[in-house]
Amino acid sequence: MLAEPDNLLKALADPTRRRILQVLAASELGVNDLVTVLHLPQSTVSRQLKTLRDAGLVDARHERTSATYFPLLGANGDAHGLRDHLLHWLRDQELPAPLRMRLRQVLRSRQTENDAYFARVANHWDRMRTDFFGPSFHLEALTALLPSTWTVADMGTGTGYLLPQLAAAFTHVHAVDPVAEMLEAARSRVALAGLTNVEFHAGTASAVPLPGEALDLCVASLVLHHEPEPAQALCELHRVLRRGGRLLIIEQSAHHEQAFHDLMQDRWWGFEMDALAADVTSAGFIDVRWRMLATAEPANASAPQAPQLFVMTATRPADETLNGAQHGRYRRSADDDGWRQY
Ligand SMILES: C[S@@+](CC[C@H](N)C(=O)[O-])C[C@H]1O[C@@H](n2cnc3c(N)ncnc32)[C@H](O)[C@@H]1O
Repeated sequence: MLAEPDNLLKALADPTRRRILQVLAASELGVNDLVTVLHLPQSTVSRQLKTLRDAGLVDARHERTSATYFPLLGANGDAHGLRDHLLHWLRDQELPAPLRMRLRQVLRSRQTENDAYFARVANHWDRMRTDFFGPSFHLEALTALLPSTWTVADMGTGTGYLLPQLAAAFTHVHAVDPVAEMLEAARSRVALAGLTNVEFHAGTASAVPLPGEALDLCVASLVLHHEPEPAQALCELHRVLRRGGRLLIIEQSAHHEQAFHDLMQDRWWGFEMDALAADVTSAGFIDVRWRMLATAEPANASAPQAPQLFVMTATRPADETLNGAQHGRYRRSADDDGWRQY
């Protein structure tokens, strides 16, 4: 409810009420918190809060056993109205130092309440987290570290498992796969998610239907071990990446799991990471790094043992005249952070 200007001005004419509003603009608080911060009797705080509520300047919500109060900034479409103007003005006034200090103490004391809560739920937190937010939001969040303006390709997109994340994170996505049924499944997934920035292409990693330097990032997830000529494909991925563009490979490490290999109809038995890194370097990439990924326990205990996965990243040099990769300038060296550089 919007108050009449007259009510607003009357409510704000009182310096105690202005102070309460100013404190609430800094943080939602309960009556007892306001008593602590303002050093006022509880009856005074309660009475003034009622006046502020009647004037449409604050509202309350219930939190556990008590109510917390907050200023009605931007509520009821008053974004440019008198009330918001006055509340903004109050919020921008500096609180006197003793009040600021007591407010901080009140807020810090909440850490103890938080700690007590998390101490109680420590054994259930993983399930709660997944139940409420799903299993992978943090992975999606990490893509926010990369420029959203990038054009990316999902090479061997399959059913488009990665496409919702890629399409949410980047301006334009090219999904490439040689198998029509896979592309159809990926199209359905994208349509269901209402995403409009994905373009589908029939093609392979060694014959990508895109012009040179079209991409900022190329992702090849669980694809190269199906590609008949991985070294050739890496040269093709180098071609379609712009200078300075990034390559991200997720692959199976070399293995001898016959049952898995047969089930997946894989062409290659995974990759020795050093050998793949050498091919990536020969294709013209620099800054080739890789590390093992922590793969989950198989959901089905009778399923064939899956190989461990690794991630490898590389960059097409920004200035290829300086690229010494093909001339043996880049050598493998141990790295402390678990990455290795070729
Ligand atoms: C194991 S699936 C991986 C799908 C998806 N990238 C993922 O991470 O779930 C492999 C996909 O690569 C496709 N594929 C096979 N050979 C390929 C090639 N030479 N180039 C690109 N994609 C290929 C297959 O059709 C299949 O859809």
